[in-house]
Amino acid sequence: DKAGYRHFMAKEIAEQPTVVANALAAYIDEGGMPALPVDFTGVDRVVLVACGTASYACHVAKYWFEQIARIPAEIDVASEFRYRDPVLSPRSMAVFVSQSGETADTLAALRHVRGQVAQVVAVVNVPTSSIAREADCVLPIWAGVEIGVASTKAFTCQLTVLALMALQAAKARGTIDDAQIAAHVQGLRSVAGLMNVAIDGANAYPAVAQQLAQARDILFLGRGPMFPLALEGALKLKEISYIHAEAYASGELKHGPIALIDADVPVIVFAPPDGLFDKTVSNMQEVMARHGKVLLVSDAHGIAEAGEGVWATITMPSVDAVWAPILYAVPAQFLAYYTAVAKGTDVDQPRNLAKSVTVE
Ligand code: M6R
Repeated sequence: DKAGYRHFMAKEIAEQPTVVANALAAYIDEGGMPALPVDFTGVDRVVLVACGTASYACHVAKYWFEQIARIPAEIDVASEFRYRDPVLSPRSMAVFVSQSGETADTLAALRHVRGQVAQVVAVVNVPTSSIAREADCVLPIWAGVEIGVASTKAFTCQLTVLALMALQAAKARGTIDDAQIAAHVQGLRSVAGLMNVAIDGANAYPAVAQQLAQARDILFLGRGPMFPLALEGALKLKEISYIHAEAYASGELKHGPIALIDADVPVIVFAPPDGLFDKTVSNMQEVMARHGKVLLVSDAHGIAEAGEGVWATITMPSVDAVWAPILYAVPAQFLAYYTAVAKGTDVDQPRNLAKSVTVE
């Protein structure tokens, strides 16, 4: 049931404020502290493995584990992980993230680490799935059934659970105090509310999407934890609009991809104001100097600071920079969705793709 929406994807995007709040409620105790059934005692490294969108959630989480809990975090796509014969240790926690819990590569990677690490954790949307059954510990993400082939609400719920894991690791390791952890939990709670604002802004997308739909190639840029969001935006766009899109860490632009820039290549930049915002503004100027069309996704301060010359903007509510990747998933999803709608492609059942990839 699409509940009045034109596509399941639109419905699932709109459900995010509710399901993210549900995921938070599942793992926060009465004292406002993260309370997940995982134990970071003696753990000195986190290894995160997944495919596709779930792997981008892991990529964001790497920043959180390292910045907040000061614990080294390694990420890999499941199809590469076991074949590179990774160095594992009994002090590592291995985390497998999968919406379906049935992805063949992720399941095989889980089987590969069993017995070689301290704890095998499954972050899944389907608690009865194979990946859940074979893990030591299961953390359901509480997104509810996801039907659209393009993953949306599962991504933001994965991010939410991984954020709480990073906070729990910080508590176990004493890298920040309880008051700071409680403030971060509050920050996460407010993101769920801000997602409503971002979703209410849906009418900003169709006009820009009409133009994106004409493009042959689109670049996505982001720095730090917004780089995985750029990857996610590019994947979503490719999947449902069939437009070629690539993502780069903003600073990599001048190391090659800038050669692609001309007046026909839109460059979508995810840049909430943060410590690196000025550097991103210089990257945008490099694009604009070559007549590239910059679409800036930022808040009102960021958009004001970026100045003239930007082709289009999407204004987001201001958010604590550390949790911005959860909120900025919404524009990544909407840009893909409205571009696909403008092209008239099959949003919920894109060609060549299956919801669950159960073969290697
Ligand atoms: O069920 P999983 O989370 O393990 O699936 C992983 C990928 O196949 C999945 O995220 C895929 O990339 C989506 N279609 C992305 O929208």
